[in-house]
Amino acid sequence: LGYAVGVRAYDAVFMEQAMALAEHGRGRTSPNPLVGAVIVDEGEEGAAAPIVLSGGYHERLGADHAEVAALRPLALRAPGKTLYVTLEPCNHVGRTGKCTDAILAAGIRRVVVGALDPNPRVTGGGVTRLRQAGIEVTVGVLAERCHHQNRGYRRWLHSGRPHMLMKAALSIDGKLALMATGENQTRAPLWLTGSAAQQQAHRLRDQYDAILVGAGTVLSDDPLLTTRLPASERRDERQPLRVVLDGALRTPLSSRLCGPGTLLITSEAECRARPSLVAEFRSRGVEILGLPPALNSSLQASSQTLDPAAVLRALGDRNLLYVMCEGGATLHGKLLSAELYDEAALFIAPLFLGERGVALGPGLRLDQLAAAPWLSEVRQEQLGSDVLLGGTLRYGGFAAKKES
Ligand SMILES: NC(=O)c1ccc[n+]([C@@H]2O[C@H](COP(=O)([O-])OP(=O)(O)OC[C@H]3O[C@@H](n4cnc5c(N)ncnc54)[C@H](OP(=O)(O)O)[C@@H]3O)[C@@H](O)[C@H]2O)c1
Repeated sequence: LGYAVGVRAYDAVFMEQAMALAEHGRGRTSPNPLVGAVIVDEGEEGAAAPIVLSGGYHERLGADHAEVAALRPLALRAPGKTLYVTLEPCNHVGRTGKCTDAILAAGIRRVVVGALDPNPRVTGGGVTRLRQAGIEVTVGVLAERCHHQNRGYRRWLHSGRPHMLMKAALSIDGKLALMATGENQTRAPLWLTGSAAQQQAHRLRDQYDAILVGAGTVLSDDPLLTTRLPASERRDERQPLRVVLDGALRTPLSSRLCGPGTLLITSEAECRARPSLVAEFRSRGVEILGLPPALNSSLQASSQTLDPAAVLRALGDRNLLYVMCEGGATLHGKLLSAELYDEAALFIAPLFLGERGVALGPGLRLDQLAAAPWLSEVRQEQLGSDVLLGGTLRYGGFAAKKES
């Protein structure tokens, strides 16, 4: 499809603007991708510098696609102009019409595409259609970054499961909390990190389709798992879906997240054994999903143990493309062991919790360094006195990487 053929010096600048616009839709478009677009007047060759006429993005599922959103302020007419779009325009009718039709009707002369649509059923279709209609199409400007922007969409298309973020607040010695004992039953203070880190965690929640925790966390912390942002940062009233993994249905009916907007994933066996409890949850608006037990013997299957990969596929089946797991210790261990985390956001607080601290990731057993999960493309951010360590999770090959 002629990747990066016909690129002009300023193309990356406008693609960058389109990418920034696309970000405004994060957490709102699943199962659609994030897409941003700008319309530019390139002028005559050698004349004045190109100028941006309008921009738009795919705001939420069912809303205009980015190309149409960018054309609207121009009354859907832009003869002779250039469209920059982060993802290949669609050439099929879905929830909205074909974007290629809108582009052709508007009289656009050149289209610059960031990344091809990763959906194998439609890849290249939009580009081919536009070229056949005589439009100059440049493909692959900032392609890698445009692909990365839709990492959840690609993950979901190719494996049926969401992109998984591991989120945890940790002490310097890697502990999640103090173990509950007779002396610290009240467990105050519950938070390891300060307000700046907590606010950042709420921003993350706002960008994710769902927040996943294990039943142990509900029992020990009774979290709300809602997004709470100051009015100046709030885009709308949307809340992420709250998901609890609870093979043995230990979640108390009195817990704060017991209500609409919560999905409890448990075992089929538990659903069959306790129909009145299931009915109680449902009467409170909690959705209950019973899954078959894990078949893989390495998961030490009991009728209540679920295969984490099957759990994530069930979330993918609900069109959840981005899921953030907030723990606790056991669930982090299971997802790390199963190599199901894609990314991490670890908030490190400046304290030690010592031997009575809850260790992150029990069940993750490594015989050699080379097999360890590790972070690449590490980023760090100071948040008050805490540090956010983020990166892409990789599995194995750590030592080799260090030597290279
Ligand atoms: N610092 C932080 O960021 C942070 C965040 C969250 C929690 N925490 C701390 O972490 C601790 C809680 O961790 P935890 O290990 O006790 O609990 P957890 O990881 O939240 O939950 C573990 C439970 O989840 C269910 N579960 C997990 N994987 C499952 C699977 N594959 N199939 C079926 N059920 C599954 C099981 O429930 P059943 O046994 O009922 O089947 C399991 O006992 C608390 O001390 C809490 O304060 C810290």
